[in-house]
Amino acid sequence: MHWSFRRGRRLVVLASVAVTLPLTAVPSPASAAPAPAAAVVPQPVSQLAGQGPGFTLTAATRIAVLSGDSASVGVGTYLADLLAPATGYTLQVVGGTSAPANAVVLDPGGPESLGAEGYTLSSGGSGVVVRARGAQGLFRGVQTLRQLLPAAVESRTRQSASWTVAPTEISDSPRYEYRGVMLDVARRFFPVAQVKRYIDEAAAYKINKLHLHLTDDQGWRIAVDALPNLTKVGASTQSGFTGGTDWYYTAADYREIVSYAASRFMTVVPEIDGPGHTRSALASVPELNCDDRAKAPYSGFDVGISLYCLSDQKHKDATRSFLQTVIKAVAALTPGPYIHLGGDETPQATSEQYDSYVKAAADATAAEKKTVMGWHQLGQSPLPAGSLLQYWGEDSDRRSIGTTTETTSVGEVRKGVAQGAGFIMSPSDHAYLDMKYDASTPYGLSWSGYVPVQRSYEWDPATVTGKLDGTGAIVPAQKIAGVEAALWADRAYRGSSALPNSSTYWPAPQEYADFMSFPRLPALAEVGWSPQSARDWNDFRQRLAQHGPRWTAAGIGFYAAPDIAWPGPSGTGLDGVHTLTTGGKALDVPGSSTVPGTRLVTWTAHGGANQKWSFTRQSDGTYTLVNQASGLCADVSGGSTSAGAAVAQWTCTGNTNQRWTATPVSGGYTLASAKSGLLLTTASTADDALVTQQAASGSALQRWTIG
Ligand code: ACM
Repeated sequence: MHWSFRRGRRLVVLASVAVTLPLTAVPSPASAAPAPAAAVVPQPVSQLAGQGPGFTLTAATRIAVLSGDSASVGVGTYLADLLAPATGYTLQVVGGTSAPANAVVLDPGGPESLGAEGYTLSSGGSGVVVRARGAQGLFRGVQTLRQLLPAAVESRTRQSASWTVAPTEISDSPRYEYRGVMLDVARRFFPVAQVKRYIDEAAAYKINKLHLHLTDDQGWRIAVDALPNLTKVGASTQSGFTGGTDWYYTAADYREIVSYAASRFMTVVPEIDGPGHTRSALASVPELNCDDRAKAPYSGFDVGISLYCLSDQKHKDATRSFLQTVIKAVAALTPGPYIHLGGDETPQATSEQYDSYVKAAADATAAEKKTVMGWHQLGQSPLPAGSLLQYWGEDSDRRSIGTTTETTSVGEVRKGVAQGAGFIMSPSDHAYLDMKYDASTPYGLSWSGYVPVQRSYEWDPATVTGKLDGTGAIVPAQKIAGVEAALWADRAYRGSSALPNSSTYWPAPQEYADFMSFPRLPALAEVGWSPQSARDWNDFRQRLAQHGPRWTAAGIGFYAAPDIAWPGPSGTGLDGVHTLTTGGKALDVPGSSTVPGTRLVTWTAHGGANQKWSFTRQSDGTYTLVNQASGLCADVSGGSTSAGAAVAQWTCTGNTNQRWTATPVSGGYTLASAKSGLLLTTASTADDALVTQQAASGSALQRWTIG
């Protein structure tokens, strides 16, 4: 028997759960204000606000899984683990066939109509029930439940909060089955721990595919036993780095990623790109080169620089045999159905050469009983039935549709459609996470234009292969399998508008990933999950704003995009009075001076007004910082744009040398001068250390806690 939720009625406690249960749910004061409607992302298909005080989790709350199947019990354990750090509760996961009171009930026996990922969620005074058709739907529902709790639940340390879930009734299922994100681990290597962290970040928004771009000119990242040079030589470079010895996944590493992803109901899609983007293989395997000589490994930033030798039969055979070895090895480690064959950016290949490559790669994939995926260029060549093409065109392609000068991409898509391929939509001017948000973005590129959050959100997969007015889609709606965000990582350094130099700051890959993916990955997750009719930018930006505090609590260094009204002070809206500390020392006006031009220092924090700064958000998203003892503004002296320039207090002018961009990074914030882009930096952790502006270095002396 399945317990069903009825708002306002006492739960009946059935004897099949052998624990002593409180007969009433946690009492709530009669005066309790209704909890605000929770801002769920992706937007559920339907969500009704209930009445009453909601359900408050306590240490006595149980997670009741109404089935013994291990996958569903695993979701229960996952939820208990998720809640433990912030709440301090070790919630008991219990089995049984009926629901106890004061419980989060996970019921995998919902109707078939819910599909593999649909779920319903009901919360009221006595508990929460998530119902689905199996464990995967429960997992998606648990991600929604998580968002119904206060933002502090995302903290990995114990927080004091009332862990209340607002009363609500949600019914939900995805628009598209395939909702992916691509990580370019080839151009910038992501260690296993960082991939796992990213999996968790993406799973929270119901992403269910992780596409790993494992091979490119700058690196080969997956060990293949029969071809040890691929990782010995081909993995020794990244974009901007040389000399690596462990910049690849061993079979055990890759299995660990696959199994971690599976525990989050996410399928790994490995990409072996070719016949272009192959310099790392050409550097490792001599017979793939026309002169049978290995090329030098490559750590630069160019694209379109490489091609397997396909100009004679001997080398075609060598490439075919190479592909068979590689694809067999990768397929053996990959339980998911897809092998992504790349196929992009091969300007030097003739169509006969390209076709021969695609045939060899597709044959090797079919031999392993896997489904071919590829960038939409692969549509030019004959493909096995059921292949999936990943569209990465942009507005310029859409503008050309129906004219006499349709772009090459449009032609390739037409050929893919003609042979019945399915499509994943990753339009570069909406879904490429390496495109800069705006001119201030320190990372990435802008060849497909800037992609502010609104652009990542406001598009429809059903019309994105049509004209700009939304008509004339080339890919029929029923051939669209889903959406994928793509995080390329060749420009994963600060100052990326120029090529790197010795002072360039290279953040940890995860820091780059967080900044470029948040808030855009949640926006794209909603594009893939929510019905088009339920999506509205103005509504989304308000829901999204409530996720800033969640990311802050989780330590995700997101971009506080100026087009989102982030709430303060717990979010990134920093309006208010704060102390700024680094290494235990506070930003300080020495001697509480009121004299303009007095240089700022850091000093042991003591809570005095000369260590208090009033933050006021400006229309450009930057802040002015006014000292509470002097009433003067933190100012880069003389409006200097040079590293090393002094930071002093000065009469407030509103000029850009008094505006500071606060960017969350792990362990605090950086504060960049809006004029120079250089970071507020103290000289040391000694008392009286002078404060200057300096190039970003990743140093703790540039990371400020805003208290
Ligand atoms: C691509 O952006 N080259 C798929």
